[in-house]
Amino acid sequence: MRVNSFLKTAGACVVVSLALSSISYAIHLEPFIFSPMPRHKVQTPAMTELGKKLFFDRRLSGDGTTSCATCHNPEQGYSDGQDISQSYPSTRNWRNSPTLLNIGHQKYLFHDGRAQSLEDQALFPMMSAFEMNQNLDYLEEEIRSVPAYVEEFKKVFGDGDTTKEHMAIAIAAFERTLISENTPLERYLLGDEKALSADAKKGMDIFSGKAKCIECHYGPALADDRFHALNVPENPAYRDDPRYIATMRFVAKGWHFTDYRTLKEDPGRYLITMDRKDWKAFRTPPLLDIAKTAPYMHNGIYATLEETIDFFDRGGGQNNTVLKPLGLTDEEKRLLKVFMVEALSGEDRPFKYPVVP
Ligand code: HEC
Ligand code: HEC
Repeated sequence: MRVNSFLKTAGACVVVSLALSSISYAIHLEPFIFSPMPRHKVQTPAMTELGKKLFFDRRLSGDGTTSCATCHNPEQGYSDGQDISQSYPSTRNWRNSPTLLNIGHQKYLFHDGRAQSLEDQALFPMMSAFEMNQNLDYLEEEIRSVPAYVEEFKKVFGDGDTTKEHMAIAIAAFERTLISENTPLERYLLGDEKALSADAKKGMDIFSGKAKCIECHYGPALADDRFHALNVPENPAYRDDPRYIATMRFVAKGWHFTDYRTLKEDPGRYLITMDRKDWKAFRTPPLLDIAKTAPYMHNGIYATLEETIDFFDRGGGQNNTVLKPLGLTDEEKRLLKVFMVEALSGEDRPFKYPVVP
């Protein structure tokens, strides 16, 4: 471990610099303090409260059964505990529902990074045929028919207009408040030596050393804002499910994937860039509060952290050129898990549910 100039600017941060072949990367773990706010955006508590109500409002779905919280449930780490997420009745989703914790820290949204701002993202699930299947013009009128909402939109946006743009702004403001609070790692990095147990510290050394996890999982949310083709296998539970395949082809058609009608596997980032190197590449997910959001990977193929660690230990999926086998002992794998579960879990605070008008 080599301490470099980052230490001077980063105060009490533990700085780990890994020598990778001949290049030396300054990558490190950072205390997580707050979600960065895009400079041009103003976010008030009233806006956040309105966004919270909309987030829990089933009116946002076509058949009135589903809210954002159905698939991003505060009691399940803002995910839904399924391998492949829930979906609009009679359809099938095709990917795992990611946690929304610390989402303000993500440069790219979705497993393939196809959206870049929370405001843009929020309208996608409402319109999506296999998620909420709502018509947004209809939704605007539906919300406008509720006097309490009109009052609140007036308070937050001045003109009281219940446009989809205003809804997206309010929902995004609420999402930025979802953070992993006061993790032991954060306290440790800010100088509290006792915040981590001896085993968690050993796990952190393996994470930053022999297991090389830190090459991609670094910074405040433990993610590098990049995409890597680890060749995670297709989830065998869905490979032959016609509704799953229909959803995949439907999305691929939307992204002008020429051979969408014969598509049988998730193309990952390739769908967006059409660049061969992005075939089956997915965004590095953040790892804070990872213990709360099983199952893992874009398709939920691994039910536990143990299975996920084993995947990395054997050098990733077939024919990938990114990862190499790590040769971890059982004890090292155990310590890695202790680090992830103990050090990266935020405090559990009771969630205050809104009253939806
Ligand atoms: C039926 C389930 C479902 C519903 C309802 C749903 N989502 Fe999601 N959400 C998902 C899935 C699955 C993904 C990942 C999709 C992908 O990567 O292709 C996702 C991704 C996201 C992301 C990106 C997360 C990340 O890590 O990049 C955000 C933000 C988000 N949803 C917010 C919302 C909001 C806001 C609503 C309500 C307007 C909503 N979702 C409704 C299932 C759902
Ligand atoms: C080369 C970059 C890279 C390295 C090195 C790496 N990861 Fe990852 N990690 C990723 C990517 C990309 C994914 C998402 C894969 C997917 O969804 O198909 C991921 C997914 C995960 C997940 C699942 C997260 C979730 O929310 O589903 C965990 C847990 C994880 N990594 C832990 C580790 C550990 C532990 C190590 C070290 C043994 C490690 N990673 C090394 C890039 C990396």
